[in-house]
Amino acid sequence: MNRVFVCSCFGVTEEQVRSHADAGACTPRQIASACKAGTDCGGCVRRIQALLGRGSRPRRQLVDQGGRPLTAKLPEAA
Ligand code: FES
Repeated sequence: MNRVFVCSCFGVTEEQVRSHADAGACTPRQIASACKAGTDCGGCVRRIQALLGRGSRPRRQLVDQGGRPLTAKLPEAA
């Protein structure tokens, strides 16, 4: 099996992100709600955004998503 991990913190694969996207998740925040990807170190959020931006899925209006943007704990700058 060829698994490509997007989120190593939670072991979430590209296939899982695409599956959640197909089920209606269209923002990294919604992906995080579905599988926690992006909620620990945050290092995968850009990758998730890139995956969501691909393909022919229609994008929902992001304006009505409401709430705050996805926040994640980031390591302190050295
Ligand atoms: S790699 Fe996804 S939260 Fe750390």
